[in-house]
Amino acid sequence: MTSAVIATKAQSPYRYRGPQRLIHWAMAFVIICALGLGLYCSYLVPGTPQRQFLLEIHKSFGMTALALIVLRIPVRASYGEPSWRTQPSWSVKAGAHAAHMVLYGLMILMPVTGYMTSGAAGRSLPWFGLFQWPNLMPADRDLSRLAATIHEYGAYAFFAVLGLHIAAVAWHRLVKKDEVLSRML
Ligand code: HEM
Ligand code: HEM
Repeated sequence: MTSAVIATKAQSPYRYRGPQRLIHWAMAFVIICALGLGLYCSYLVPGTPQRQFLLEIHKSFGMTALALIVLRIPVRASYGEPSWRTQPSWSVKAGAHAAHMVLYGLMILMPVTGYMTSGAAGRSLPWFGLFQWPNLMPADRDLSRLAATIHEYGAYAFFAVLGLHIAAVAWHRLVKKDEVLSRML
């Protein structure tokens, strides 16, 4: 009986599937760490050992995000979205959908432009001191600078849209007291 109840709960059509929830929260952690470290590094003097060290960790989180997004897209495409117990209004659904699309775009753009910034400048592409990712970029200073500029503006967009995303979830939970957060728990 208990196992039947657990099985029913685990396969609820109103929650994202297990692998989707796992990747969502793993990526949330990795991306928030990458954003925080990247922002902090932008205030440090280039070339100092502290900045070099923190950038290595930043790049490692960023490359983890790149590996996870490659996994996440097919998982999302095959499982789709859960059903709603109570359908939100058309405008709330459209707003959430648009924000999620932008977040997916940024989850691709940021690691790719970060990789290009470091790769095209011939700098390291580490993973937590364990190994180096292959550098597939040609040596090209201008390309590296262009990618760095896109990376910087992408970071501003990421802070803004992620702030909205978290604020929207908090509003649904604390004010509307609806099912939104439980779909991802
Ligand atoms: C404390 C942080 C976060 C909370 C509380 C949170 C919460 C949620 C919740 C509840 C949903 C489900 C919305 C629905 O009902 O459809 C969701 C979806 C989503 N979240 Fe987050 N999230 C957080 C951080 C992040 C981060 C850092 C990202 C990275 C970009 C992110 C990207 C997404 C995306 C793309 C979706 C749509 C999922 C899909 O339909 O495939 N979230 N989030
Ligand atoms: C989700 C992934 C990533 C996020 C959210 C992110 C975010 C950021 C942020 C907020 C900054 C500071 C603003 C700026 O100067 O651009 C930054 C800088 C930087 N990031 Fe990332 N990053 C990510 C992935 C990567 C990856 C994969 C690499 C390289 C392998 C990388 C390399 C760099 C470098 C070298 C800088 C310093 C750029 C400069 O000083 O011009 N990032 N990143």
